[in-house]
Amino acid sequence: YKALILVGGYGTRLRPLTLSCPKPLVEFANIPMIVHQIQALKIAGVNEVVLAINYRPEVMYNFINEWQDKLGVKIVCSQEKEPMGTAGPLALARHLLDDGTGKPFFVLNSDVICDYPMKEMLDFHKARNAEATILVTKIDDPTKYGVVVMDEYGLVQRFVEKPKEFVGDKINAGIYVCSSTVLNRIELRPTSIEREVFPHIAADSQLYAYTLSGYWMDIGQPKDYLKGLHLHLDSLRIHKSFALTKGPDFKGNVLIDPTAKIGSGCSIGPDVSIGAGCKIGNGVRLSHCVERSIIGWEGRIGAWTRMENCCVLGEDVEVKDELYLNGAVILPHKEIKESVPTPAIIL
Ligand code: GDD
Ligand code: MG
Repeated sequence: YKALILVGGYGTRLRPLTLSCPKPLVEFANIPMIVHQIQALKIAGVNEVVLAINYRPEVMYNFINEWQDKLGVKIVCSQEKEPMGTAGPLALARHLLDDGTGKPFFVLNSDVICDYPMKEMLDFHKARNAEATILVTKIDDPTKYGVVVMDEYGLVQRFVEKPKEFVGDKINAGIYVCSSTVLNRIELRPTSIEREVFPHIAADSQLYAYTLSGYWMDIGQPKDYLKGLHLHLDSLRIHKSFALTKGPDFKGNVLIDPTAKIGSGCSIGPDVSIGAGCKIGNGVRLSHCVERSIIGWEGRIGAWTRMENCCVLGEDVEVKDELYLNGAVILPHKEIKESVPTPAIIL
């Protein structure tokens, strides 16, 4: 099978991390977001992944060089000259997705994390003889998503992107299985699958929804990224993953890359992930001093510095000793010498 991952978009809501790195390559639980997805696709029998990109192609080629062999999946790029939205990229990559065998293919938003039920979706799609199948999940505040109204059999009656008034609480989780005929519905121009394609397939009674069991999160914004990390690490715990770190210095779910170095007498956790090459000094408390925050690549945090309330540090930020940062969003390459007592963006 084949899959297309929508890796365009500027990831503005995840700045300043996305000033250094496109959103799909920002590490989540210590590996680039889309690696989680490609691993799940491979298990479902996908052997070729198309990355639909619209900017910074060189970064994507570096990613492919590093990961293609490790993942054992062929990865190709389809590059847009202008942003093509969420459906246009399918038309652009038509020759890569439709090999004439009529096999369905997967389409994924690059920023959704869950227990990907790829195989189950594919079986569901085939059993219903659907034209497209959307993964759906239930959520408390559906306004920032696409809302799906369906019957017990999964047939979608309505699809409304970012509704202004209440339509329902089942939302589009951003993962689809499409039959090749979907490509006949998409013109080669910037266009939205949510606004211009799904409503038509639904009107033709060919759109189905497969309901996800388990956690789900769109991790394209810092607060949601941190919520998603909590859910993901807890799912590792539930599945008794050996990846989580155990020991007296660690509380709750903690994920540490084997190349990170942790000092003695630390208190780390819950819900902390420490990436490759990080160095944590002696006696550091992560979660109380550094609480609900994201520290980008090459960050350096001084002694006795406290950080809380969704701080996001871009690449190569240095924070001096004994400071207090409250909800600070700091652009790359900054040196912070003074506390930030109330939430602010440091330019
Ligand atoms: N190649 C390409 N070109 N990709 C794009 C473009 C583009 O012009 N614009 C957006 N994307 C990619 C983004 O990188 C992301 O992976 C995906 O398309 C969806 O865009 P978002 O900007 O993340 O959309 P959203 O989160 O507001 O809403 C979408 O996701 C929700 C679930 O998380 C919609 O699909 C909603 O219906 C859905 O509920
Ligand atoms: Mg999103």
